[in-house]
Amino acid sequence: MRLWIVSVLVLTHLVLGALCWGKDGHYTVCKLAEGFFEDDTIAAVKKLLPESVDGGGLADFCSWPDEIKKLSQWQWTSTLHYVNTPEYRCNYEYCRDCHDTHKHKDWCVTGAIFNYTNQLMSASENSQNIVHYNLTEALLFLSHYMGDVHQPLHTAFLGDLGGNTIIVNWYHNKSNLHHVWDNMIIDSALETYYNSSLPHMIQALQAKLKNGWSNDVPSWKSCHFHQKACPNLYASESIDLACKYAYRNATPGTTLGDEYFLSRLPVVEKRLAQGGIRLAATLNRIFSAKPKLAGL
Ligand SMILES: *[C@@H]1O[C@H](CO)[C@@H](O)[C@H](O)[C@H]1NC(C)=O
Ligand SMILES: *[C@@H]1O[C@H](CO)[C@@H](O)[C@H](O)[C@H]1NC(C)=O
Ligand SMILES: *[C@@H]1O[C@H](CO)[C@@H](O)[C@H](O)[C@H]1NC(C)=O
Ligand SMILES: *[C@@H]1O[C@H](CO)[C@@H](O)[C@H](O)[C@H]1NC(C)=O
Ligand SMILES: [Zn+2]
Repeated sequence: MRLWIVSVLVLTHLVLGALCWGKDGHYTVCKLAEGFFEDDTIAAVKKLLPESVDGGGLADFCSWPDEIKKLSQWQWTSTLHYVNTPEYRCNYEYCRDCHDTHKHKDWCVTGAIFNYTNQLMSASENSQNIVHYNLTEALLFLSHYMGDVHQPLHTAFLGDLGGNTIIVNWYHNKSNLHHVWDNMIIDSALETYYNSSLPHMIQALQAKLKNGWSNDVPSWKSCHFHQKACPNLYASESIDLACKYAYRNATPGTTLGDEYFLSRLPVVEKRLAQGGIRLAATLNRIFSAKPKLAGL
């Protein structure tokens, strides 16, 4: 009986594992971003956020797109969380890769980031525009997908569904490679280094952004050709990291332990930090456009 319950739990876990950075990962990306918002962004985000009982900021809402994607009216959004490359291709190309299974162009995580950036821009640039879209949703989708595009296995091979079908052991627990990168590396880091406290981990990343990474932050932020958002660059980085770190030494049936954890954790931490910096930079570019979101 107990075994049966355990295997049901593991199965449920595997199915639910087909997600994105877990809740903690998305919370971290958005919390880090909040620390880099300019005044215009703080005001615009506050206006757009849903009412919250405990006065939480953007970070409290960043997993919303995961919570809704199984509801029938939102099912169309589920392909917007990732992009797949052909088998064993360690590079990413928008035209080749950004489509859904029916080859509808733009239906992938990078297409969605462009889409929601444009929606927020068109409202921000000209408050006289008739706004066709729900900008609260646009903000929450953009914030969530900006996190996803930084998870290396969200730009990964189609054949294994971004690692979802690669069954591995994470220490003594059965899992899959995608779930390891969404959740398990972060969970193990919280337990091992941060007394199971997410705020402690976030503080450590904030400290690194001020010290170890401070020289890199300007280059993380920058976007070529005066674009507002450059998700293609982030997806290219992700598939490169997927090939070099995520897939490497993680074939089906492997037990991943200390060696994998200790060498991959720095990659996960950096991707969370980059996601936060780039979300803030993108929102700052959007909302510093004049005139502001007046009258919305
Ligand atoms: C763009 O956003 C709108 C509004 O949510 C949605 O209807 C449309 O399907 C989106 N397209 C893409 C490619 O994300
Ligand atoms: C915008 O979307 C949010 C989340 O789906 C919803 O709660 C809200 O009612 C929508 N606002 C409008 C004006 O439709
Ligand atoms: C394995 O699973 C158990 C039960 O869910 C959990 O308490 C434990 O932390 C997991 N171990 C690792 C290393 O993730
Ligand atoms: C770790 O967390 C526990 C429970 O939250 C707390 O009682 C303990 O003081 C913490 N230890 C450290 C070193 O922060
Ligand atoms: Zn997601």
